[in-house]
Amino acid sequence: WQISGPKGSYTSKNIIMDKFIVKGPSKLKGEIAISGSKNAALPILASTILFDKEVIIKNLPRVKDIDTMINLLKSLGSEIKFSKDKKIVKITKKNKHKIFASYSLVRTMRAGILVLGALVTKYQKSVTSLPGGCLIGARPVNYHLNALKKLGMKYEIKKGYIYANTKGKLEGAKIRFSKISVGATENTIIAACLANGITTLRNCAIEPEIVDLINFLKSGGAKIKFVGKRTLKIEGIKSLKSTSYSVMSDRIEAGTFCVAACLTGGNLKINNLYPKVIKTELTLLKKVGAKIKTTKKQIHIIGPKKIKNISNLVTKEYPDFPTDLQAQFMVLLCKAKGKSSITESIFENRFMHVAELRRLGAEIIIKKNKALILGNTSFKAAELMSSDLRASVALVLAAMVAKGSSIINRIYHLDRGYENIENKLRKVGVNIKRIS
Ligand code: EPZ
Repeated sequence: WQISGPKGSYTSKNIIMDKFIVKGPSKLKGEIAISGSKNAALPILASTILFDKEVIIKNLPRVKDIDTMINLLKSLGSEIKFSKDKKIVKITKKNKHKIFASYSLVRTMRAGILVLGALVTKYQKSVTSLPGGCLIGARPVNYHLNALKKLGMKYEIKKGYIYANTKGKLEGAKIRFSKISVGATENTIIAACLANGITTLRNCAIEPEIVDLINFLKSGGAKIKFVGKRTLKIEGIKSLKSTSYSVMSDRIEAGTFCVAACLTGGNLKINNLYPKVIKTELTLLKKVGAKIKTTKKQIHIIGPKKIKNISNLVTKEYPDFPTDLQAQFMVLLCKAKGKSSITESIFENRFMHVAELRRLGAEIIIKKNKALILGNTSFKAAELMSSDLRASVALVLAAMVAKGSSIINRIYHLDRGYENIENKLRKVGVNIKRIS
């Protein structure tokens, strides 16, 4: 075990200036191993605040957001030791945590808000920064605050911080989320674990990452169970016991590589993932013409010669088509024969990649939250600018099939959520290099 924080590829010194040069067209061929899920690891790491005893978390992806969450936990007083490859951490609470979650850390990684539920249920006190918006939307946290209030959290918002100060322990309650929210569901599950009595949560988000958080907490003795498709029953307990848990694989990374195989007419084996977590996406890729065979933990995908269009693809909550694969599918549909359309119903501003795809030759018309994609595009290389994490990877996909060398700037967005992406892609035939 090492105390030192993670170093290496994704935290290069002048990270802001890092760019990719991608020479297309390419065809993906070979095998790719999927890393641990960032969106499962973040709530699981935040929930370690609940534990008095040592906790071991395995299969962490080496991405910037995990680094930031670990720094946030350290700033709160958790003692963190790393395995040599930094994919396993041993977290122990030396003494009472501090309760101040600073803007500087929460600002760069919105999931920092997930420590709020843990701090309030454990210490009845917290000063947690509001996460602030990001490029894809305002990203308010009203559903988080309403639910925690129902559990008894008293708070006021001052100077961009949530000052929570609650008399005594949180009390179990009957809560119904007015809208399905991944983060609000996670925050409330974490808080309810140590509340007094029973909490019922209705209209929960049920993404696989939430099931992973539940399985992790249950491995520490938490009493949580589904009593309906979107209804959870949580019985508060006094304390959690020591546990060791391996985070699930990243279904969005897997979905991204499946799209890449389809886009390039490639032949790719994707290992380390239970295919059922991307069932919807695989059905869609078969619809556009891909040949897909799955075994317990492998997806074998062969891209079609001709990509068929999809008349209207709508992003929805799990188990429907995920917003985190919207940009990637848009690149695929640019190459499809005929018109397609995509409706983004989760975030209010998640079409930043469209302007960049147009620079590569795409013909896309935006009407409110609907994108009409004219298809039959042959991408030509260009210089591009990344924006949010998933829009950035969509630019890499487009550059892979564009004729010539494209430059993709500000790839620190990519480093937040994709582990070692250039090496993984190079290994399966993509001509990509990082310029620092
Ligand atoms: C999680 O964000 C993911 N992030 C996002 O992935 C993902 O796109 C999103 O879920 C939807 O699947 C992590 O898991 C760390 P939400 P989250 O609460 O929890 C609005 C990525 O690329 N809303 O389900 O913030 C919200 O603005 C990221 O890895 C409120 O209005 O998503 C959005 O429009 C991007 N008030 C919608 O609900 C609230 O209190 C869904 O948000 C909370 C959310």
